[in-house]
Amino acid sequence: MNILILGSGGREHALTWAIAQNPKCDRLVVAPGNAGMAKIAECATLDIEDGAAVADFAQAESIDFVIVGPEAPLAAGVADRLREAGVLVFGPSAAAAKLEASKSFTKEICDAAHAPTAGYGHFTDAASAKAYIRAQGAPIVVKADGLAAGKGVIVAMDEATALNAVDDMFGGAFGGAGAEVVIEEFMDGEEASFFVLVDGEDVLPIGTAQDHKRVGEGDTGLNTGGMGAYSPAPVLTDAIAMQALDEIVKPTMREMAKRGAPYQGVLYVGLMIKDGHARLVEYNVRFGDPECQVLMMRLGAQALDLLQAAAQGRLAQTKVNWADDHALTVVLAANGYPGAYEKGSVIQGLDGVASDSKHMVFHAGTATKDGQIVATGGRVLNVTARGGTLQEARDRAYALVDQITWSEGFCRRDIGWRAL
Ligand code: AMP
Ligand code: GLY
Repeated sequence: MNILILGSGGREHALTWAIAQNPKCDRLVVAPGNAGMAKIAECATLDIEDGAAVADFAQAESIDFVIVGPEAPLAAGVADRLREAGVLVFGPSAAAAKLEASKSFTKEICDAAHAPTAGYGHFTDAASAKAYIRAQGAPIVVKADGLAAGKGVIVAMDEATALNAVDDMFGGAFGGAGAEVVIEEFMDGEEASFFVLVDGEDVLPIGTAQDHKRVGEGDTGLNTGGMGAYSPAPVLTDAIAMQALDEIVKPTMREMAKRGAPYQGVLYVGLMIKDGHARLVEYNVRFGDPECQVLMMRLGAQALDLLQAAAQGRLAQTKVNWADDHALTVVLAANGYPGAYEKGSVIQGLDGVASDSKHMVFHAGTATKDGQIVATGGRVLNVTARGGTLQEARDRAYALVDQITWSEGFCRRDIGWRAL
């Protein structure tokens, strides 16, 4: 099978790594890719948000299966264009990707499906949004409706912060994403992510994970794309996973199908868990990054079979071969991230780092320059390991981190603290 993976982050390197191990994979192309992916796949130059260009490329290169990594091409309809061109694709239509691209749409679907989530109001002007905040009081959560690269959510512990957030959003701080605003009840509890494959009809759980969104140790400081993750997430017990499937995932998937927008792809179900009960925080229409890295480490080569079964509508007959161990990933980011950072610094020591089914350094923002690996992004490497216990996975991951020399980068030293 000839496979094309779209994206260039740690998530896509992890997908590429897992899929390359499957004997069904004959040729593996990534677009645009990064220095890590370039070692195991061909890199193509392609505008991955241009559906017609991606479909033309897939046809010209006899690609049998396209896997879309990030949300932007999905929201732009790239999966739709591929389906129209008769190319098998893993990833939802633009209509179904609204579950991530519009928070008010998701709230409305949850209402129709009676799925437990935070109470909310939806506003198109600042005055009514502020009146709602004054009536509800703090803490309260203010969200830009559209895609804002993970930055459009303000968890306001006091009313003044919430009112300022409304001004910022309607003032254009988040561009078009903030033209509409959702204001939500603050949910207390512990967050965990649940990953399920959906084939339009059936759902198949493939793992749980916990991310570390804040830049600083002890979950302090600014929000980031994620500074580390581990899988499984002990807080998301089998009983809670079952409840989330029955009360949240399956009813919303039925509602999407009823509206003529059946969902196909991976659904990232962000949950808030309190007193043994889960409520929905958000859906994402793609794998999490860095959560995908720990999921792929544990799924390995079967990931290709699972993604293909979802794309072909065969999930009802598909089983996951579960690993019973733990995986943990530590993100190495450029100094200054999530604010401004320098690009182009050289990373040393990567050649000597173990790379096998228990140890992997997944690349995110990297490129090769004059034979050396240089940093080209905010999040740069995902140092990942497996172990019989979470502690063992963590010890192995930090031992790898310590073999890498990159004075222009940093990592959190406490990934996994909640579960340990
Ligand atoms: P979202 O982009 O919707 O995932 O929000 C980003 C983060 O904000 C989440 O991962 C939560 O940590 C937090 N958050 C979002 N909505 C709520 C809520 N209703 N109550 C508490 N925290 C929330
Ligand atoms: N790590 C969080 C996300 O991918 O949205």
